Amino acid sequence: MRKFDQKYATSMQKLATTYWVGNNSKNGTYCRIEWIRTQCKEYFLNGGKEKYDKRERDINAKMTVKKPDDENRAFDSDDIRIEDRLESSYERRISVLDVGSCYNPLSVDETFDVTAIDLIPAIEGIFRCDFLNVAIGREKILSRDAREIHQLPARSFDAAVFSLLLEYLPCPKQRYICCRNAYDVLKIGGLLIIVSPDSKHVGANARLMKSWRYTLSRLGFMRIKYEKLRHLHCLTFRKCACKDVATRWCELQRFSEDDKRYMSETEIFIPQDFQAVICPEGGQGKSDEYDETDLANIFSQLPFDNEASI
Ligand SMILES: C[S@@+](CC[C@H](N)C(=O)[O-])C[C@H]1O[C@@H](n2cnc3c(N)ncnc32)[C@H](O)[C@@H]1O
Repeated sequence: MRKFDQKYATSMQKLATTYWVGNNSKNGTYCRIEWIRTQCKEYFLNGGKEKYDKRERDINAKMTVKKPDDENRAFDSDDIRIEDRLESSYERRISVLDVGSCYNPLSVDETFDVTAIDLIPAIEGIFRCDFLNVAIGREKILSRDAREIHQLPARSFDAAVFSLLLEYLPCPKQRYICCRNAYDVLKIGGLLIIVSPDSKHVGANARLMKSWRYTLSRLGFMRIKYEKLRHLHCLTFRKCACKDVATRWCELQRFSEDDKRYMSETEIFIPQDFQAVICPEGGQGKSDEYDETDLANIFSQLPFDNEASI
């Protein structure tokens, strides 16, 4: 690993375990990692999954009744009955793929069987893997030294976690590819958990949250939880057994023209995509969406603050 990469990974770990833990706390102890653990346990161990299995069956039954005969099917593209697919996806130890794990924060809990991956792992025990370019196939394939993952097994994880990951990717298309890959590695009924930073109030980027829901519904995910913590958006999406159930949400919505500007079937937008662009002549590009305090906060969170030069 290059010296700069290691320094970067170590700084990121420090940032994540010191500043961000306190900054996102609720009642002093609550943080994004706890939020993720709680959602997984509620869903896989405390009846959440069964509740949504049933909800999906009910919605599917309603849709089946309404459809004309030739479309009247409770089968998806693999021709497996929805009931069979929902039953086979449950296990006791929750298998989690933590993407952009950095320092493997979920591994301390025995409930989870964590596969932690990162472009630049900060510590031992994390596999080097570029989730944008990794192959997805029948089984896991490792490098010869077993430190890198070349291929991830399809339909094999109960949950995929993107904690502070999506905003690391500069392009909306890359963020979409990440979500699509998560869909491919998840079991039916599995969870995609996304935690994304935003210090603004809950309504400020509501349109973007709606656009995520739209894009992910089209992929086959049903949003089952959304919570705005002080500095974070926290979301869980369920991989549906029947894609029609997931896309039904889109069909029931009446999107305004303004909503539609942010919606795409193959892109995931974040606030920075719409931020002001500083032109070389000193002028400004698009309209300012962030005030100076926001910008100062963002820069103060960079890992190189107070670090010796690299
Ligand atoms: C802000 S850190 C998040 C760390 C941790 N998940 C947390 O919540 O504290 C984002 C991490 O994503 C990793 N990352 C960025 N692009 C990636 C990719 N294509 N594949 C895997 N990891 C990636 C970065 O190396 C970085 O460690």
